[in-house]
Amino acid sequence: MSIEKRKAEHIEISLSKNVEAELSAGFDEVFLVHNSLPELNFEEIETGVELFGKKLSAPLIISGMTGGYERAEKINAELAKAAEELNIALGIGSQRAAIANKKLERSYSIVRKHAKNAFVIANIGAVQLRELNEKEIKKIVEMVEADAIAVHLNPLQEIVQREGDRDFKGCIAAIEKLSSFSLPVIVKETGAGISREVAKKIEEAKASAIDISGLGGTSFAGVEYYRETSDKELAKILWNWGIRTCASIAEVSENVRIPVIASGGIRSGIDGAKAIALGADYFGLALPFLKAAVSGKAKEFGERIIKELKAAMLLTGAGNIEELKKANIIITGKTREWLELRNIDCKKFANRQG
Ligand code: FNR
Repeated sequence: MSIEKRKAEHIEISLSKNVEAELSAGFDEVFLVHNSLPELNFEEIETGVELFGKKLSAPLIISGMTGGYERAEKINAELAKAAEELNIALGIGSQRAAIANKKLERSYSIVRKHAKNAFVIANIGAVQLRELNEKEIKKIVEMVEADAIAVHLNPLQEIVQREGDRDFKGCIAAIEKLSSFSLPVIVKETGAGISREVAKKIEEAKASAIDISGLGGTSFAGVEYYRETSDKELAKILWNWGIRTCASIAEVSENVRIPVIASGGIRSGIDGAKAIALGADYFGLALPFLKAAVSGKAKEFGERIIKELKAAMLLTGAGNIEELKKANIIITGKTREWLELRNIDCKKFANRQG
C-alpha cells in the first residue's frame, strides 16, 4: 500500500470512527485544589511561555498529524492559520511520504504560507530516521522551515500493521545523530506513553524535549483496527496498551531535566492545566484539533482551550505558568497507585504551597 493511501486512511478513520482508548488518560483522577480567594484579575493572567527561544501565547501545541495526501493540504492550511493567529506551536504529520514523492511536499509546505511566524515542528518516525541521510533530513526541515523536528516512536502501530516495520534496533543511535544537528529534537510517542527508563535514554541521546503522548486519547491500535491491512486481533488486544498520560507526565518530568510536553487524551484547557501542574512544560492535542479543522473551527477551538486554561489558572490562584507548575494537586486512584509504586511521592504534589 502507498504511504499516501495509508495517511489518508488514518485521517478518514480518525474522523469517522471512535478510535480513542477506553481507559482514561487519568485527568479524572487528578484534582487542582480550588482557590476561592485568588486575588487575580482574569484579564491579567499570563499564559505566555517560551519554546526554544520563541515566545508563544500559551504552552499549547497542535500535535503532528497529517500531510502526504490531497485532503491533508486543506487540513494543514487550516491548522496553520489557527497556529499563526493564536501564536501557538504547530506540528505536522510524518514527512516520510514527501521524501519519496516530491508532489506531496506541498501538503506540508503549505503551513508556511499561512503560518509565517508560528513555531513549526517537522516530523519523522524513528524507524525511518535510521535510513535517512543528511540531505534528506535537511529536506524535511527546509520543507516547512522548521523550528524543531519531532521524531515519533510508534512500535505499537508498526507491529499492528501487517506491512509495518518489525525491527526497532538502532533508533537510539539515529536520535543521537540527529541531536548533533543544530535544530531542537523532540522525541515523541504516539499514544502509548513514555516511561522514566525510556525518557532517560532519550535525554542521554541528547534530545531537546520529550512529548510523552500517553494512553487515554487516540489509540493507534484503534485506528489500525479499522484498516484492511492490519492484524485486527492484535489491534483489538492492544487497543488500551500503554502508560496513561498523567502517570507518564509525572514519572518522566520527575526524572529528566529537558522540557516535557504532555499529550494523549488532553481534551480541555483544564486537562492542560493539570498536565502542567503534574510537571509538563507544554501540552498538545491532536484528534480534537483535527475535528475542529475539518469543520473550519481550529482557531475557535484553540481559543476555547486557552480560555479554559486561564480559568483553571485563576481558580488555582496561578497568575502565570510558573505559578501553575507549583499549584497543589491531589492525585488519586490508579494514577496515584502507579506513581507510588514507581517511588513518586504524591503527597509532595498535594502540599507544595500553603
Ligand atoms: C497522529 N499522531 C501522529 N504523531 C506523529 O508524531 N506523526 C504522525 O504522523 C502522526 N499522525 C497522526 C494522525 C492522526 C489522524 C492522529 C489522530 C494522530 C499522533 C498525535 O500526534 C498524538 O501523539 C496522539 O494522537 C495523541 O493525542 P490525542 O489525539 O489523544 O490528542
